[in-house]
Amino acid sequence: MVTTVVILKPGHFFKYCCLLLALLVTLEFVFNFAAHYNVSAGLSLFINAVVPISWKKMRSGRHGVVHDDFTQCVSHKPLCPEVPPHLDGSIKVKKKALSFRLLDNMNSDLRPGGRWCPPGCVSRHHVAVIIPYRDRPSHLKVFLRNIHPFLQKQQLDYTVYVIELVPNIPFNRALLFNIGFVESVKQHNYSCFIFHDVDLIPENDRNLYICSGEPRHLSVAIDKHKYRLLYSTIFGGAIALSREHFIKVNGFSNKYFGWGGEDDDMFKRLQRQNMSIIRYSSDVARYKMLAHPKDVPNPNRLKLLYEGLKRFHRDGINSLRYTVVKTEFRRLFTWILVSVNPDDVMKEENTTEATHNT
Ligand code: BGC
Repeated sequence: MVTTVVILKPGHFFKYCCLLLALLVTLEFVFNFAAHYNVSAGLSLFINAVVPISWKKMRSGRHGVVHDDFTQCVSHKPLCPEVPPHLDGSIKVKKKALSFRLLDNMNSDLRPGGRWCPPGCVSRHHVAVIIPYRDRPSHLKVFLRNIHPFLQKQQLDYTVYVIELVPNIPFNRALLFNIGFVESVKQHNYSCFIFHDVDLIPENDRNLYICSGEPRHLSVAIDKHKYRLLYSTIFGGAIALSREHFIKVNGFSNKYFGWGGEDDDMFKRLQRQNMSIIRYSSDVARYKMLAHPKDVPNPNRLKLLYEGLKRFHRDGINSLRYTVVKTEFRRLFTWILVSVNPDDVMKEENTTEATHNT
């Protein structure tokens, strides 16, 4: 009782604040506490502001978690377990869009370009997460806030790529996926590619973002569709394809400007190459879709789809032509701004090697 009275004495308030601050700084220094535990965004920003970067470097060096290049992600450590040990199953989607500054601070362990690998073990999976993007900053913020902790719990060696098309050219999701594939393999030897819409947030961390023998449809059950598959061959939203799968089908078609059809075209390509798709069950492969106005459907999509298989060996990554306007290695993702000439894309292709005017 006497002790309680002494602790609450107003004169001691400053002393206990200092002690609490020292405790937080020690926890951050030793365990990188803010990045690994779900502390609130404000507290995380505060901790990151008070712990000098030089200390973090010391800490990282001491524990061998500074990865300056890919080699450091693969050497001197045991292989990560086949089943990631800290998965929770169902996870709560954080729907508030925090500022990029705050998100950057909350993700201080990411290497430039939104790259990460597990500190204590060598990941079994080398994954590029490719997001086609235009004009959805709040979706991107929510996506990044949720996806980094999700991928890290799965112990993946991954990078997030955001591929943006310059304004005034109709959006072309599949073409941006193709560019993301080509650009990402120039940087690292990824074996697995997650092609992902920015408005889909996974709700269960057992939905592993890895590749296996067959292409996988990830976004099986979406809240907007009452968690039901719209049709059995649907292959949109979020998918996982290995490098071999993607090359075998010549990537996506480049010709789908506007909404719809490009994912059905990919399904047909895979089928033509004797691949069948797999899905996790709908209690695991669950997503929240962030609200947005309805996209304008491409009036040519059914015609393109109908003729798709005649074209697939000459319309894809082997006929891809684009210009990289800018690449930035931001804290949370690699941002690649690109431009294409839609008339060139829609022309009949010749089948010579693609030129990438970067
Ligand atoms: C479109 C697909 C789309 C699906 C679900 C289909 O009609 O062709 O691109 O993913 O609807 O919205």
